[in-house]
Amino acid sequence: MLQVWVDDGLVPAEHATVSVYDRGFRTGEGVFETLRAYGEHVFRLRAHLERARAGALELGFDPGPTDRLAEAVRRTATANFETLDRRDSALRLTVSAGRIDPDSPIPGRPAGPSTVVVTSHRLAEAPEAAHAVTVPLTRELPHVKAVSYLVAMTARRRAKELGADEALLTDERGRVLEGAGSNVFAVRDGTLLTPSADAGLLAGVTRGVVLELARAEGIGVDERPFDVVELAGAEEAFLTSTTRELVPLRTVDGYEIGGSPPGEVTRRLQRAYAAEVARERAAGTW
Ligand SMILES: Cc1ncc(COP(=O)(O)O)c(C=O)c1O
Repeated sequence: MLQVWVDDGLVPAEHATVSVYDRGFRTGEGVFETLRAYGEHVFRLRAHLERARAGALELGFDPGPTDRLAEAVRRTATANFETLDRRDSALRLTVSAGRIDPDSPIPGRPAGPSTVVVTSHRLAEAPEAAHAVTVPLTRELPHVKAVSYLVAMTARRRAKELGADEALLTDERGRVLEGAGSNVFAVRDGTLLTPSADAGLLAGVTRGVVLELARAEGIGVDERPFDVVELAGAEEAFLTSTTRELVPLRTVDGYEIGGSPPGEVTRRLQRAYAAEVARERAAGTW
């Protein structure tokens, strides 16, 4: 049976519970991370934990020591490795603001330490190339990966209803910001474009790795806004996320992007990404 980390240790999934007084459940005061374990190695764990910490502090609570969160994630990955057939897996870390004191008057002050939960999951198949549609919605506090993910979930549902794989969120000026669960890149005149991290989006860990790799490969990078017309006219485009890595984008709003995906720059970056995963795994760094 799958094991779940709750606060201080692992318990069988069927016994894993959190309190009805938990502020994550009551008022959405919590952050989460989706991580990928390659074998038992959790890729870029530190970057995920730093983002979770910054988000929690912004929401007004202390998530607890980073080493404790790292231990929770690692031990959950290891505990479930056999159950998940020794394959790569996805992990979800949720850290909430902890329980209110049931005896205090509403709204109640934070009583205890943060609540920490880690679950392990099988990886969903990533499409070889994705179809995306734009959805004119933007996330609240977009740089925080808060547990209240209603905008992203709504956008994703609309995209699925239209037969697409991903929704691209656009702001009031029609600029493409990010996918509902991914970041978006385009290639124009050989230069890699992606909206800048302060444009109102989540600075994905994968986005950060791809930008590092592009610079190391000598590919020009321009972090600037673009609209759907510019995206549709790109030579190549792709989405990035922790679980799906780099997924070529085939169409946006029904318009074909470039030639048959993946394009040359995308392929180069996919190869560099795989090499980076292998390098980090072999070195055992995080
Ligand atoms: C809204 C949003 N943007 C971007 C991303 C990509 O982030 P990462 O590369 O850290 O998985 C995600 C991941 O779930 C997301 O939910």
